[in-house]
Amino acid sequence: MNYYFITGSSKGLGKALTELLLQNENNFVFGYARSSSITHHRYYHKHIDFASLEAVQKIKFPELKDAKKVVLINNAGIVGEIKHVGNLSNQKIVDCYTINLIVPSMLSNEFVKTYQKTNAEKLVLNISSGASQSAIDGWSVYCATKAGLDMFSRVLQEESNINKINIKVLSIAPGIIDTEMQQQIRSTDSQNFSNINRFVEYKKNGDLASAEDTAKKIIRFINEPNLSKNVVCSVRDLTK
Ligand SMILES: NC(=O)c1ccc[n+]([C@@H]2O[C@H](COP(=O)([O-])OP(=O)(O)OC[C@H]3O[C@@H](n4cnc5c(N)ncnc54)[C@H](OP(=O)(O)O)[C@@H]3O)[C@@H](O)[C@H]2O)c1
Repeated sequence: MNYYFITGSSKGLGKALTELLLQNENNFVFGYARSSSITHHRYYHKHIDFASLEAVQKIKFPELKDAKKVVLINNAGIVGEIKHVGNLSNQKIVDCYTINLIVPSMLSNEFVKTYQKTNAEKLVLNISSGASQSAIDGWSVYCATKAGLDMFSRVLQEESNINKINIKVLSIAPGIIDTEMQQQIRSTDSQNFSNINRFVEYKKNGDLASAEDTAKKIIRFINEPNLSKNVVCSVRDLTK
């Protein structure tokens, strides 16, 4: 059996990934989010609020004797409060770093601890963003969390190589996707986010990818782990 642990499996990209993976009868998915929207005999949902680190610390990964492949997909993420620095709420800063960077780091730690000695194929796939590489006004914390996630992923791959534990790590920017996150971005105002019109135009011009199409591309990276030589990569790197 192939086992997938997917955060943010209730909506958007995480839900599309889960639904596609469940089409293969050799796959079992453990999903994590505050709400659940999938019922399937090969799906187990853990209701959790990632803003609560107390709850996150209790997450343990099961012993999986028949595992051929174990995959952690750190997908849950929030854009956070879209405002310039100076106008941010401190609690919202904490929540965004927690959900986007601290939780994936903690889950990766637990995943490595649990599975490093198993012979199964092992993959940690972090959903990053183009924002990890671009300074976008109004998104300071979001950009910082994704840049941090990219570097965390690079170090984890380095350590896996040194320790010969055979874990493949990817930090993938998924492109722009038609999800609730984009709705939130479009509902901001230009005072807090000078690029707002660009994002309104993306939607109007049909430039947003569907979650399903993006999930298909992400699954190619899972099934062909050598598709990207670089840990930090993008679905836009796919040429065919
Ligand atoms: N959409 C884009 O254009 C875009 C572009 C680049 C990168 N990304 C990245 O892609 C990933 C998925 O984004 P998306 O667009 O699919 O977003 P989305 O539709 O807003 O879905 C976010 C998912 O994260 C979960 N989540 C959010 N806060 C949570 C919390 N406190 N505790 C537990 N789960 C929580 C949500 O579940 P509940 O609400 O049920 O808890 C939901 O399942 C994110 O990492 C995002 O940064 C998206």
